Amino acid sequence: MCGIIGYIGNKLVIDILIDGLKRMEYRGYDSAGLTVLDKKDNQTTVKISGKVKELEKKCHPLIKNKYTCGIAHTRWATHGEPTEINAHPHSDCKNEIFVVHNGIIENYRALKEILEKEGHKFKSQTDTEVIAHLIEKYYNGVLEDAVAKALALVEGAYGLAILSIKENNKIVAVRNGSPLILGIGEKEMFIASDVVSIITHTKQVIYLDDKEMAIITPTDYRITTLFKEEVLKEVQEVTWSIEQIEKCGYDHFMLKEIFEQPLTIQDAYRGRLKPKEGDGRLNGLNMDKDAIHKIKRIIFVACGTSWHAAMVGECMLEEYARIPVEVEYASEFRYRNPLIPEDTIVFCISQSGETADTLAALREAKSRGARVLGICNVVGSTIARESDGGVYIHAGPEIGVASTKAFTSQICALAVMTLMFARARVMSINQGKEIINALLSLPDKIKDILNKAEEIKRIACKFKNANNFLYLGRGVNFPVALEGALKMKEISYIHAEGYPAAEMKHGPIALIDENMPVVIIATKDAVYDKIWSNIEEVVSRKGKVIAIGTEGDTQLSSKAEEVIYIPDIHPMLIPVLSVIPLQLLAYYTAVLRNCPVDQPRNLAKSVTVE
Ligand code: M6R
Repeated sequence: MCGIIGYIGNKLVIDILIDGLKRMEYRGYDSAGLTVLDKKDNQTTVKISGKVKELEKKCHPLIKNKYTCGIAHTRWATHGEPTEINAHPHSDCKNEIFVVHNGIIENYRALKEILEKEGHKFKSQTDTEVIAHLIEKYYNGVLEDAVAKALALVEGAYGLAILSIKENNKIVAVRNGSPLILGIGEKEMFIASDVVSIITHTKQVIYLDDKEMAIITPTDYRITTLFKEEVLKEVQEVTWSIEQIEKCGYDHFMLKEIFEQPLTIQDAYRGRLKPKEGDGRLNGLNMDKDAIHKIKRIIFVACGTSWHAAMVGECMLEEYARIPVEVEYASEFRYRNPLIPEDTIVFCISQSGETADTLAALREAKSRGARVLGICNVVGSTIARESDGGVYIHAGPEIGVASTKAFTSQICALAVMTLMFARARVMSINQGKEIINALLSLPDKIKDILNKAEEIKRIACKFKNANNFLYLGRGVNFPVALEGALKMKEISYIHAEGYPAAEMKHGPIALIDENMPVVIIATKDAVYDKIWSNIEEVVSRKGKVIAIGTEGDTQLSSKAEEVIYIPDIHPMLIPVLSVIPLQLLAYYTAVLRNCPVDQPRNLAKSVTVE
């Protein structure tokens, strides 16, 4: 949840580190720091509590200085408050060894006690500092040797980049459970926890695996295990472009990502549809028709927005492919001694592909012999690499902490999968063709909804001072209600709850009065008449209904205070459209409340700790 960047080469080191940190700030943003080394074996360390722009200001007088290498970090606090002292890099007693760390050292208390007894003096409250002191203890002139000895004692998760002032032309980086990438340039090398921070410099990368260590100089790298065995790794090319990681004139990444959806969803199904056969094709699943027939159950594990996409997947697969589906919170699944019967497939859905709970659930399912497939956005991410196969959603980098385009792309990928499974089992060619036509019609329909942005902004303005929001939906729109409420609460800080509409009368109805805006997704589908009754129930208690309805359904405006119309679409794909007004409603509400939309308080883009 923090960000690491390291650079070694002959360009302006601080400039590169600060730029990299800014691009990674969505990963953690409560404090930041860097250490740079020069040719005379001096170190300079700068730290701040707050945002990277504060670090940039503090570093400004140094920016043109020549340094040989440096490491930097943007933090999302776990151990110790986000103060300057607790910001990374952390160092040993003599200020000779510097460490930036993502992850959590679980046995740090025990290690700290031993080190203190041995005379080591600690400056911070962090778990990370023990690593610097342990390396100091074992340092004998070769940094990587000391790192390996130190880490043999450490339990927990880490992505680390380490410097020693005695070896000013070397960075050592190690990974165990927290992502780390080596970037290879022309007479320069990078270490990063997120590819976004280095792709303006190089697209040639190596993804480190757990317990692997990279020893880098400006012109060379070596990868070994922590037991010193040499490892040969494939250099891979990153396909993301620089435009994809810029705001390109939008006020926020979230708004840009919402507006990208007519394009991004196409990348989720491009080349994966067989229009003449009314079928889908997902080669990454490595499943022929026989294998599809054998599936007895699907279990989805995911967190947050990806969990909501899984719930949409459940509705689709059960309805159209007639396969029983369970949707599990990854954090619950991993500790629940889950039952995974034979011929069950476990799908891990994760935008980042690094979410700690989802990754642990993946490993749990694999250890029980299940076939585990991934549905990820980030290519080369840990979940993608550890799965037995899977599907990339190809939404491009998602930088706003609130997930938007990943959600609609996840649903589109799940729709292709549903099509493929359904056609192999129960669905006719004509039904398959209808779904393909509906998928192909989505981009224009999304554009129609995006054209209503100003109208949605007006509605946001009307309700921006509400203390609570209730979101109701049924069937395939129930997960959309959950997603709408999640978006609202995470970026506007307004308390919001999503419910299956019929559940309202079992409790939440007590909350309804003239101050309660209730967003009701009331599209023309099989449960329309039922949801209409729910609207009546809210209105008769003076609740203010904001309805999401299907174009042409004029009766909605007779009851709802506001109606946002969306185009009609095949029922399976309604969530791709019905979620868009909710994304915009949350976005504008947050903007009007002056909230930091892309970096909401206490959150981070990728939750790589438990
Ligand atoms: O990267 P993942 O899809 O695994 O992330 C899961 C959640 O952490 C994520 O969806 C989170 O809930 C977002 N902030 C939602 O907008």
